Amino acid sequence: MSGPGFGNYQNEIYLHGLEGRIPPFTTDPTALEASARERMEPGPFWYVAGSAGSGATDRANRAAFDQRRLVPRMLTDATERSLRTTVLGTELPAPVLLAPVGVQSILHPDGELATARAAAELGVPIVLSTASSYTLEQVAEASGAGPRWFQLYWPNDDAVCVSILERARAAGYTTLVVTLDTWTLAWRPHDLDQSYLPFIRGVGTAIPLSDPAFRAGLARSPEDDPGSAVLHWVSMFTGTDRGWDRLSFLRAHWDGPILLKGVLHPEDARRAVDAGMDGVIVSNHGGRQVDGAIAALDALPAIAEEVGAEAEVLFDSGVRGGADVLKALALGAGAVLLGRPYAYGLAHDGADGVRHVLRGLLADLELTLGLSGHRSPADLSPAALTRQP
Ligand SMILES: Cc1cc2nc3c(=O)[nH]c(=O)nc-3n(C[C@H](O)[C@H](O)[C@H](O)COP(=O)(O)O)c2cc1C
Repeated sequence: MSGPGFGNYQNEIYLHGLEGRIPPFTTDPTALEASARERMEPGPFWYVAGSAGSGATDRANRAAFDQRRLVPRMLTDATERSLRTTVLGTELPAPVLLAPVGVQSILHPDGELATARAAAELGVPIVLSTASSYTLEQVAEASGAGPRWFQLYWPNDDAVCVSILERARAAGYTTLVVTLDTWTLAWRPHDLDQSYLPFIRGVGTAIPLSDPAFRAGLARSPEDDPGSAVLHWVSMFTGTDRGWDRLSFLRAHWDGPILLKGVLHPEDARRAVDAGMDGVIVSNHGGRQVDGAIAALDALPAIAEEVGAEAEVLFDSGVRGGADVLKALALGAGAVLLGRPYAYGLAHDGADGVRHVLRGLLADLELTLGLSGHRSPADLSPAALTRQP
């Protein structure tokens, strides 16, 4: 499906109405979380919906979007529109990717496989998390010809790290996303109150458990002693922060583009570029890490100003509808990553649910782009917005 076709999802839904059919679940991004809650167990639901500490950053993410308003322009000849764009050599039908979301099998048994299938059908890239419930190779197979990137949680064992990177390259993941903001898990009251953490229950460990270098370091195989294998893995990536000088290690072992995810300060973006990185993802992890952190959207303009001319600047945290995508693009993002909404789609209905959420977002995006007087993402600049006090 090409960019200009995305808005047709609206016609499809209304035409289905003539046969008495309505969408499988809500098209309203603000109602999606409540709808998912009705279908999910409290552990998985709160693992997705919950945030760090008081939830202030998650609320700030949304408030930052609400403070910006689009100022539509009329009679701009916006009938013909294209959402197409290219990011780091990956052609995108729209400036949207699926954010890395780990442990997707807590949402649906098909987990990342379902997400990969739905995304590939639409040509939207997935960013597969290190904490995937399926292996790199299984998800690559499900994604087929679809574009795919890999997100690294950086293990402190170099041989294991290199082995995982090599597998990712061999399985067709083109771009590496290195998440910096989760070197240890934040205080997350919703999960703590239920004593619910998927990883220590063995979920989201398919990549290390299938890795030859990781397995070589175990006294007993994961099949014989799953508990020890999981604890060995957890000890490899929890609680280990690093310095900027260590990025050269990743640069040496990955020959494609590398983005650093979780950057919120322009000086960090500058250091990323100086360290040979290809760009950054401005993100506060959906408010799940530093309680009280700056809204990601508020951090975006200064980072785009600092490095946007020479590096890729992507964005996530708080994107819910088409207007949000436009606002982030106007403030300097080359594309955005969608997080929780597609996780809720997966929880509703597997691949069909992810497809429904994604088609809805893309339709809303295309319609709102045109109705606000623009023909392509490249037309957007801060001039498209006003800011409320
Ligand atoms: C359930 C869940 C799991 C996540 N897992 C990962 C992960 O494994 N790796 C990562 O880099 N980010 C992870 N994230 C963060 C997302 O990539 C993204 O930054 C965040 O969802 C954006 O916030 P939003 O969903 O509120 O828009 C996760 C987010 C959620 C909600």
